[in-house]
Amino acid sequence: SVRRVSVPQIMARKGGDPIVSLTSYHAHTAAIVDRHADFILVGDSLGMVMHGMDSTLGVTVDMMITHGRAVVRGSQRALVVVDMPFGSYEESPSAAFRNAARIMQETGCGAVKLEGGARMAETIRFLTERGIPVMGHIGLTPQSSNVMGGFRTQGRDSESWPRHEADAVAVAEAGAFAVVLEGMVEPLAARITGMIPIPTIGIGASARCDGQILVLEDMLGLNPRPPKFVKVYGDLGDRIETAVRNYAEDVRSRSFPGDDEVYR
Ligand code: KIV
Ligand code: NA
Repeated sequence: SVRRVSVPQIMARKGGDPIVSLTSYHAHTAAIVDRHADFILVGDSLGMVMHGMDSTLGVTVDMMITHGRAVVRGSQRALVVVDMPFGSYEESPSAAFRNAARIMQETGCGAVKLEGGARMAETIRFLTERGIPVMGHIGLTPQSSNVMGGFRTQGRDSESWPRHEADAVAVAEAGAFAVVLEGMVEPLAARITGMIPIPTIGIGASARCDGQILVLEDMLGLNPRPPKFVKVYGDLGDRIETAVRNYAEDVRSRSFPGDDEVYR
């Protein structure tokens, strides 16, 4: 079997060739993403994309394990990173360790991701010192949308920059191997990327990051209202609609199954 991309290999890409990443929540898409991406994120965005929830807050450790397993089985080369869901890591470093260890043991993933900057530094250190690689996630952090009062692009006001910079430095010093910068104005993302020794992975955070990530279904055209920062590379929504319509017509007109699809 092929060796997977390792955490040190991702770290070594700081300032080098851009790191490529997409989300995946299931085996067939994982196999495709695996041929092109450096790491695959099993994001808690699966709450909305796979389960029709209206936020990530209802996602559980069990859901992350179900989808994380599918992605590990479906891929062979990329590093697989699994999101720690809301409620599974904030309370204490030891609670975070227990849940992260369970996620790693039951999925076979290579790292976990958790949201929060300075406030999560102690936890990030606790995990990394005990063998669990952690990817940070700062800027717009969807799991704290109720506290932040929605989903606003971060850093529009330069008074907030020192807080975001301190978050980035804290996450890096705590031992995170990379950090997602989400929903952040370009000059702040550029400043942070230049400030810390670990790769920054942008989503809605400009090209001035060490890598990029998008939600796969957003870039494939399955989200009817994609955010502004998404470039839509495919029209899967339209193509699935057409395929399903054609199938329905064929069944109704008795042209499916046809001669080719029958056991004689
Ligand atoms: O859950 C997710 O998909 C994510 C990425 C968008 C970074 O956290
Ligand atoms: Na997430």
